[in-house]
Amino acid sequence: MLLAAARSDVIRRAVSATPLTRPVVDRFVAGERLDQSLTAVRELAGAGLAVTLDHLGEDVTDKAQVVRARDAYLALLEALRAEGLGERAELSLKLSAFGLRLPGGGEEFAHRAVEPVVAAAAEAGTMVTLDMEDHTAVDGTLTVLGALRGRFPRTGVAVQSYLYRTEDDCRALAATGCRVRLVKGAYREPASVAHQDRRQVDLAYVRALRILLTGGGYPMIATHDPRLIAIAEELARRLERAPDSYEFQMLYGIRTEEQLRLARAGHLMRVYVPYGTDWYGYFMRRLAERPANLGFFARSLLTR
Ligand code: FDA
Repeated sequence: MLLAAARSDVIRRAVSATPLTRPVVDRFVAGERLDQSLTAVRELAGAGLAVTLDHLGEDVTDKAQVVRARDAYLALLEALRAEGLGERAELSLKLSAFGLRLPGGGEEFAHRAVEPVVAAAAEAGTMVTLDMEDHTAVDGTLTVLGALRGRFPRTGVAVQSYLYRTEDDCRALAATGCRVRLVKGAYREPASVAHQDRRQVDLAYVRALRILLTGGGYPMIATHDPRLIAIAEELARRLERAPDSYEFQMLYGIRTEEQLRLARAGHLMRVYVPYGTDWYGYFMRRLAERPANLGFFARSLLTR
């Protein structure tokens, strides 16, 4: 229900209009403004954590929105450069914010729109990872990734263990030495393309993890699941992966103690920091991941 609501404009307007939502959103989103995201980056970097910054936005419907998304990322890179934070901070973005779903050649359009951001990131000494959206965006995202990696080989991508195709995608990506972020997957997908059972998603995660950790690329292990983290730590140890040849990732505001533990244990730990005004879809996906979040949200509405 929550994932369906994440795509509803009517519910988006209702939820976004109430100021009561704000404190709950703040748990998952660093702020609406660039300076708030930089404050979060400084705090996390001070605690020994790396970050990946996401200027929130997805599913744009016109080209003017694409220009705004591009400019927001360019401004972010300029600010990171000015603050000397390029080393600790990479960028994450959704190609649907760069026009992937626009009618008539979305892939080509998105490639042209996103390339200046990837080029500016390389100039600032950092890199970009393409988030993965629902299954209809996977082929387009991988095509744009391939085109970008011709000039910018450090560009990375997220893959989702709930999709049946992901083990094959991991094999292909690892063979090209790609940076690959492995996640379980956050969208509502049909049984024709994705595992529906959580246990199957977890087992598929372990299989994909093994492919990535034995392959030649740079695995980014993105999960808060304690069992999967323990398996990943053990696998990395057994396979004698050098500490700088993979990393762990978690979302801003989730399992912060565990983030610090992994960093203290000598792993590179990167926190995904979303910011911006278009937080609705991201926020609803976080609510859907954990029923307790919905209770937290409902309580905060009732106690005001
Ligand atoms: P799982 O959902 O089983 O959670 C394990 C434990 O983590 C829970 O028991 C709870 O303690 C904690 N937890 C997890 N989610 C929580 C929440 N929302 N609130 C509070 N506690 C929570 N997805 C996608 O489709 N495309 C993408 O590009 C990305 N990108 C991405 C980047 C990074 C860095 C991360 C960590 C995740 C993503 N995701 C994503 C989201 C991912 O697909 C998945 O939905 C979430 O990570 C939740 O799954 P877990 O692996 O954490 O396991």
